[in-house]
Amino acid sequence: MLILAIESSCDDTCAAVLEDDKKVLSNIVSSQFDVHSKYGGIVPELASRKHIESIWPVVAAALKNAETPLDQIDLITATQGPGLVGSLLVGFTFAKGLALSKKIPCVGVDHMAGHLLSPFLEQNKPEFPYIALVVSGGNSSLFKVLDHVNFEHLGRTRDDAAGEAFDKVAKLLNLGYPGGPIISETANSGDGKAINFPRAWLSKDSLDFSFSGLKTSVVNHVNKLRQQKIPLPLADICSSFQEAVVEVLVEKSLKAISMHNCSTLIMGGGVASNQRLRDRMQKRCFTENIKFHVPAPIYCTDNAAMTGLAGYHQYQSGKTVAPDTDVYPRSPLN
Ligand code: KG4
Repeated sequence: MLILAIESSCDDTCAAVLEDDKKVLSNIVSSQFDVHSKYGGIVPELASRKHIESIWPVVAAALKNAETPLDQIDLITATQGPGLVGSLLVGFTFAKGLALSKKIPCVGVDHMAGHLLSPFLEQNKPEFPYIALVVSGGNSSLFKVLDHVNFEHLGRTRDDAAGEAFDKVAKLLNLGYPGGPIISETANSGDGKAINFPRAWLSKDSLDFSFSGLKTSVVNHVNKLRQQKIPLPLADICSSFQEAVVEVLVEKSLKAISMHNCSTLIMGGGVASNQRLRDRMQKRCFTENIKFHVPAPIYCTDNAAMTGLAGYHQYQSGKTVAPDTDVYPRSPLN
C-alpha cells in the first residue's frame, strides 16, 4: 500500500510517501523559520497562511522524490490534532479533499501517536510494550505504548513543556528562536554544574513534569546579574539549565520504566533531538539494561513520515475519516 502523509500542526509544512509501514520513500519538511524568527515565536495566522502557500508544492515534491504519481497513492493520512487550529485545517482539509477527489480513504492522525511510533521509522524497531517520552514545544509526557494503536498516558507537564522552557530561556538571553538548538549549541562550551538550578521532582511517584520553576529561577539569576552589570556567563547558564531539564527527563523516564515493569524506552519530539539528552538517556539505559530507541533528529522534530506510519496502523484497525470531520487543538491521548 502506498501512503501520502501530510503534517501541518504548527509551523512546518510536511509531506511524505511511505510503502506500508516498511519504507519511507520521501520525506519533505518546509520550515517557516524566516516567517516567525523575527517575532521570537510562532504567529498562528502567519503560520496558516504560509501553509496554504506551501502545501501543494510540498506534496508535489514528496510525490516526485518518491517517484510515485498521485494516481498510485492508496491512502492519505494527515494530522488531525493537536496543534494550531488554523494550521491543522490547511493540511487536514487538503488531505480530505484530495482523498475525496481520488476516491481513496483518508485517516486523521493524532500528532502524539506519530511521535510515540516514530522509532519504527528506523531499521532497529522497538518491541511492545514500551515507555515513551514525548518532549516537544507543546508537550512533555510519558506514555506506556501497548501496541501500534493503544497508548496509556502516565504523566504530563503541569505547566511549561520542555521545549517551551528552552525557547523562553533563549528569548530571555536574546539568543533567538527556536531556543532548543541554540541553547544546546551554546551549552557545549559551558559547565553544567556552574549554577545549581532547581529540579522539580514533584511527589515521590509522580510521573508529571514541571519546568516553570526552573524557568523562573533562570530569570531571577539573569536579572540579578544584569542589575549588578555583570556580563552573563551565557555558556554556563545554558549548560546548567540544560542539565536541569535533562536530569529530570532522564530520571522520570527511568522511574516510569520501573513502575510499569517495561524493558524498553523510546523518545520522540523536537527536544529528543537534543544531543545531551540522547547521550545521557542512552548511558543510563545501558547501565540499567534497558533497550533504548530514539529516531534520527529529522524524525524527532515535526515530520510527515511518522504521520504516515501511525495513519497506516489506524487504517489497518479500521479507522478512516468522513469529509466533514473537524480538527482538534488538544490531544485526547494527553
Ligand atoms: O516537535 P517539534 O518540532 O514541534 C512541536 O513542538 O510540535 O519541537 C519543537 C521544539 C522547540 O521548542 C525547540 O526549541 C525544541 O523542540 N528543540 C530542541 C532542540 N531542537 C528542537 N530543544 C532542545 N535541544 C534541541 N537540540
